[in-house]
Amino acid sequence: MTYSKLNTLQQQFSNCSDITFTESDNGMIIIHIKNKQASASICLQGAHILTFQPNNQEPVIWLSEEAKLAPGKSIRGGVPICWPWFGAHSSDSSLPTHGYARTTDWQLIQVQSLTDGRTQLEFEFSYSPTLPLPLSARYIVTIGTELDLKLISTNVSDTTIQLSNALHTYFQVGDVRDIRIHGLDGCEYIDTLVQNTRHTQDAAVIIDQEVDRIYLNTPRVIEIRDPGLNRRLCIHSRNSHSAIVWNPWIAKSERMGDLGKDGYLNMLCIETANAADDTVTLAPKAQHQLSAIYSIASL
Ligand code: BG6
Repeated sequence: MTYSKLNTLQQQFSNCSDITFTESDNGMIIIHIKNKQASASICLQGAHILTFQPNNQEPVIWLSEEAKLAPGKSIRGGVPICWPWFGAHSSDSSLPTHGYARTTDWQLIQVQSLTDGRTQLEFEFSYSPTLPLPLSARYIVTIGTELDLKLISTNVSDTTIQLSNALHTYFQVGDVRDIRIHGLDGCEYIDTLVQNTRHTQDAAVIIDQEVDRIYLNTPRVIEIRDPGLNRRLCIHSRNSHSAIVWNPWIAKSERMGDLGKDGYLNMLCIETANAADDTVTLAPKAQHQLSAIYSIASL
């Protein structure tokens, strides 16, 4: 008897009662996680977190009502992993924007119910010689009242390589026009909407038009203050020195077509990244760990 991928996963992880698997008609495998602290779902393609919601709270992560889950296509919302480069490839425009990890199946290699009630999943992206860069990755996702993410990249070659990356997280907000982003005051940023000109942030960031900026030398804590949802959403990062702040606003949302009606009002991307000036140099066999923890607190 031959087993489908779904059956194989169900058998392999049958000892962990926190997770279940489903498969859509077009073959997309989704992992559903439910424990005493939170619920979440993750698509195997891209190890893409689709949803995350601590119990008795509003969702932390935004997923477009128009998001399409299809083989080889990027998903609008959740936590896309931009890897092993952020944005356009530096020299080859035929390569996909934000790298190839988000549209490729990762392997789920381990699931654990931790003694404190959280659930930890580990994914692997193996290097194959057909890929443009000699890198492999592991992604450790821990689901509890906080969402804890660790992306570990390994240079599998004998030469030094450059890596850029981002956890391209779409956060759910009450109304993006009312939120304030704290922590970036005084940081230099590249405004990609104004010929990549450089500016210095003065005061909290507000969103009242399309925004697409790469903040540099960012601090380890950035906070979204959201009066609509009456909460602070804190991003604690490690080994990230840049943050992309992105909201497509009205015209770009219409061009993109998968943001949903007025979707731009309820989402905001703050991406924990190494991008632009902040590329990582990875020596032969060296590793780099990018981490982010998302937590909420009342205003
Ligand atoms: C952001 C970029 O990181 O991702 C934006 O700064 C881009 O310029 C956005 O539009 C979404 O990218 P994509 O490839 O998912 O449509």
